[in-house]
Amino acid sequence: MAVNSDTSNLDKHPVADLKGIGDSVPVIDISGLTDHSSNKSKCSAVDEIAQACKDWGFFQVVNHGVSSDLIEKVWQHTRNFFALPVEEKESILRTRANPWGFYNNELTKNQRDKKEVFDFTHERIDPIYDSRNRWLHNHNDFKDTMLSYFDACSRLSLQLLEAFCAGLNLPTDYLHKDFGNNHTGFMRLNYYPVNDPLGRMETRHQSVADLGVHHHTDAGALTVLLQDDVGGLQVYKDGYWHDIPPVAGAFVINTGDMMQVWSNDIYQAAIHRGLAMESTDRYSIPFFYNPAATAKVSPLSTVVSEERPSRYRTIQWSEFRGKRTDGDYADYGTEVQISQFQIGNSQ
Ligand code: OGA
Ligand code: NI
Repeated sequence: MAVNSDTSNLDKHPVADLKGIGDSVPVIDISGLTDHSSNKSKCSAVDEIAQACKDWGFFQVVNHGVSSDLIEKVWQHTRNFFALPVEEKESILRTRANPWGFYNNELTKNQRDKKEVFDFTHERIDPIYDSRNRWLHNHNDFKDTMLSYFDACSRLSLQLLEAFCAGLNLPTDYLHKDFGNNHTGFMRLNYYPVNDPLGRMETRHQSVADLGVHHHTDAGALTVLLQDDVGGLQVYKDGYWHDIPPVAGAFVINTGDMMQVWSNDIYQAAIHRGLAMESTDRYSIPFFYNPAATAKVSPLSTVVSEERPSRYRTIQWSEFRGKRTDGDYADYGTEVQISQFQIGNSQ
């Protein structure tokens, strides 16, 4: 996948004919990463993850150690939340200044997505937006469950980050300083209804939503996604869209823009999209694992050499993230992309 390719016509590319999950992204057993007694840098999952990041930018993981009871509770709360009356959900509507809360008018690359979302992060004031989570009153179990799940995903993401580092021949804790307890990751509950939440309205800023989520790359380091059994997530590779079939008990993992920059393009931030639902509502829950607000991201020492010079200027994470969120909220100019930081590209 070319890093700086013109992606405007990508949605017209065909969908690959999947005969089985063997033709899609690999499913990797990561018990060796989550087991404290093992030598993580030597476990086979490290090589499998590195290969998947080079080939696809996507993979699925099983034996990840996150409690299935907790996951079940998260699903129940997610379904109950989106089933609430719209006025109740809109009482915690996100704003341009504070992105936490409910939203049903999201844009990806300035195109409206057919979905509703609820976003939240750590309980403390987040440093990028200087704002706090919005929760519904009297939904304490919802809040407690979501925050436990946020912690579980933070732990899993750190373990995956260690595998990414080991795969680049770095010490497993090499990027801890850019994440640790200060990561700016956030959780999103996605609801892709068959019926468009805003009807078939079309205005200048509000085109008809023809996809659940338009094609994009995720901005941060990596994403840990829980999808239900409906299907609809697709990754773009070599001229085709490939389905990522639901695997019971698995998380879908993908690399984001910052991982592509750190790895100097060895790991790809894969382009992906979600189809609009036609007969069954779909839910998914991505956790976006993002660096600390202070992180400065540039290619790491083991992937820069005379033969392969650094391809990116340093990116200040808080600035990149702030610009991307603005583009998702409304049509405030062109969405920021890592190609704008490529050396030799003066866009
Ligand atoms: C996203 C995303 C895919 C899905 O929210 O960034 O890619 O399956 N979602 O919901
Ligand atoms: Ni995404």
